[in-house]
Amino acid sequence: MTKEWTNEAAIRQWNSTASRAALAATADEGDFAKRHLVNEHVFRLLGNVAGQRILDAGCGNGYLSRMLADRGATVVGVEPTDAMVSFARDHEADEPRGVEYIQADLSRPSDLGGFDAVVCSMVLMAVPDWKPAMRTCVAAAKPGGTFVFTLVHPAFEQLAAGWREHGRYRVDRYLEEYELVGPAASDFHRPLSAYLNEVAALGCRIREVVEPGLAPDIVESRPELEYLSRLPNFLLVAVETPPSRHP
Ligand SMILES: C[S@@+](CC[C@H](N)C(=O)[O-])C[C@H]1O[C@@H](n2cnc3c(N)ncnc32)[C@H](O)[C@@H]1O
Repeated sequence: MTKEWTNEAAIRQWNSTASRAALAATADEGDFAKRHLVNEHVFRLLGNVAGQRILDAGCGNGYLSRMLADRGATVVGVEPTDAMVSFARDHEADEPRGVEYIQADLSRPSDLGGFDAVVCSMVLMAVPDWKPAMRTCVAAAKPGGTFVFTLVHPAFEQLAAGWREHGRYRVDRYLEEYELVGPAASDFHRPLSAYLNEVAALGCRIREVVEPGLAPDIVESRPELEYLSRLPNFLLVAVETPPSRHP
């Protein structure tokens, strides 16, 4: 864990920077990266969600919860910040889809359980003490269920800035853990092996790892983003949760 940070402090930071306008701007299908690099793979990895109970762990403004509900899932979103959970609940009140939003820190013990699938998208690298949060996600899925997590790719975290400056990506201190100051809140770099070894230690079996690249038609209309078709800024991991609970 990154020593200077607690989960509570990270949650306070997310809460303080989340303006209603920014949350509303990405409320339908998420931001550019979600729309063009992440969402389609999340849905493919989850398979047909109609009739399934799905946990959206760290749901932010709830855009993914709503997209899953629109595909026929029964969705619970968990989000710790006042700002984002109240935005998501207000959205639900205005346009009901039956999504339940729970305000909670994923790293705290919870009685969430029995979900067919759990998705934790762009959350774990935002959590200083992330292992208990990953544990909560795995425990919330039923035995043999699906857990999908997405991350800013640990090898290409500052891709846009690095590419602008050097026309290529340089990486340093990959094996260390450190804070990455971001526009909304800090993320925390840790090597990819940290996440994969932890999910394996929790008894999960990796089904698929995705390093998505920007599609040619999008590059054609946004040539300045061509680097996103050559290097993966994001990473998705789909696992099967253990057939029986850990003791
Ligand atoms: C980059 S946002 C992603 C939000 C959403 N999943 C999405 O894809 O739009 C990171 C989210 O992680 C949440 N988060 C931070 N610490 C958390 C914790 N300990 N438990 C649950 N969520 C947390 C933040 O409040 C924020 O909503």
